Amino acid sequence: MTVLASAPTAGETWYAWALVVAGVLGLGLLLAGPALRRRHPVLWWTAVGFPAAALRVTRTWRPLMAGCGLAVSRKAALTVVAGLVGKGSSPPQPRVPVRGLMHPTRNGFWFLVRMLPGQVPDDFVTAAPAMAHGWQMHAVRVSSWKPGVVRVSATFTDPLRAVIRPAPRQPGRLLRVVVGVLESGGPWAIDLRQIPHWLIVGATRSGKSTLINALVAGLAPQPVALVGIDCKGGMELSLYGPRLSALATDRADAVQLLGRLTELTLDRMALCRKAGVRNIWGLPKGERPVPVVVIVDEIAELFLVASRSEKDEAQAAATSLVRLAQLGAALGVFLVIAGQRVGSDLGPGVTALRAQLGGRVCHRVADSATAEMTLGDIYPDALVAAQSIGPEQAGTAVLASSDGWERARSHLVPETVAESVARQYAHLTPELPGLADPSGPPAGRTTVRLQRLDRDE
Ligand SMILES: Nc1ncnc2c1ncn2[C@@H]1O[C@H](COP(=O)(O)OP(=O)(O)OP(=O)(O)O)[C@@H](O)[C@H]1O
Ligand SMILES: [Mg+2]
Repeated sequence: MTVLASAPTAGETWYAWALVVAGVLGLGLLLAGPALRRRHPVLWWTAVGFPAAALRVTRTWRPLMAGCGLAVSRKAALTVVAGLVGKGSSPPQPRVPVRGLMHPTRNGFWFLVRMLPGQVPDDFVTAAPAMAHGWQMHAVRVSSWKPGVVRVSATFTDPLRAVIRPAPRQPGRLLRVVVGVLESGGPWAIDLRQIPHWLIVGATRSGKSTLINALVAGLAPQPVALVGIDCKGGMELSLYGPRLSALATDRADAVQLLGRLTELTLDRMALCRKAGVRNIWGLPKGERPVPVVVIVDEIAELFLVASRSEKDEAQAAATSLVRLAQLGAALGVFLVIAGQRVGSDLGPGVTALRAQLGGRVCHRVADSATAEMTLGDIYPDALVAAQSIGPEQAGTAVLASSDGWERARSHLVPETVAESVARQYAHLTPELPGLADPSGPPAGRTTVRLQRLDRDE
């Protein structure tokens, strides 16, 4: 018997070729996958990781919601009616929150979820670790988007694991400095005009001074005055000496300096009142006083007391700092305060001061109470994130403000770099009459009076 094989049609040939090409591509990706992921993580994520994650999310959404207690059973009556009408077919599935379109990012994805009646964002925050495990992602974060809707964002690796070197310095906006990278991949900027006072907390060698290095390196080229209070004998802040308008290295010095800063603030208040404006930014450019950034390294050295006379000094320092925090924002005086702990055991003033410091940076901490004091108790998952920062991740921190929280890592700006930047811009150090120690500025420092105070207008 003869079997006649008919020649394949054009459609069949095209189909066979498409299968071969898809097979070769699939095999190639499978073999080259690990290397591609290591060397070109963004390309790997776009070509392989994201499509696979999208499939996984779609497949697991319903069981995951049910497993996390976020699915709602249909009404019993509806189930009975469905059973009667459907003649024994399976009853309707429980309702699950409606998931929006998945949007890929460089390092993960995000989507919106419409919550069911009776659900709150905290229910989804609790379910975030289960989502991360179910989708095989590094982390899942849930935030409130608008009433009734939450935003779920996931990352496939920890972008903060690698040490981050600073990009070449760009002339930035006045009082805004990019000091590191956010977990979402964006720049971590400290903008003192947006959030005027900052609290930087962390155990020893967690990265506080490195973050201050990054901040000072960014502020040094700007027309601002930098003032240092370092009661560890100036070990940390004296590096920036040539660019500092004043530096206090012990508590007695610090109390005097803070007193002079308070007077300067009150003078500015009188100036604003006379001109009929609410803050220094309302003054004409030629009359606007120079912004002053006060950096305090190791707040505990200022507050901890051993004797009666020290107690008076500590109280005076605390009162001045609280006043500066209350009045300073409008009058161009900004506070950046770093310390290992900020507990009420440091004295009564510290709680009042902490309440005034709106920007919070929590590095690795030695105990959960410190994380809670720094970040507050409004973001319980931020506390968990802060406590899971390891010693090998120096510079990694959790940032919190009224807008929410985020993980970030500061640029690694070594002391030598901060020192040389301070020397390079020493000629920009403003002279603030009455602020520096009456014994005069350190020998060899050149000072200028700044005319142009605000570059971003
Ligand atoms: N962003 C970062 N990236 C990489 N390494 C960092 C980073 N920040 C800090 N480190 C490393 O951690 C070390 C300690 O950092 P740093 O001196 O800033 O800690 P600290 O919190 O100021 O400590 P202390 O309380 O003892 O003054 C640095 O010498 C550096 O090696
Ligand atoms: Mg330090």
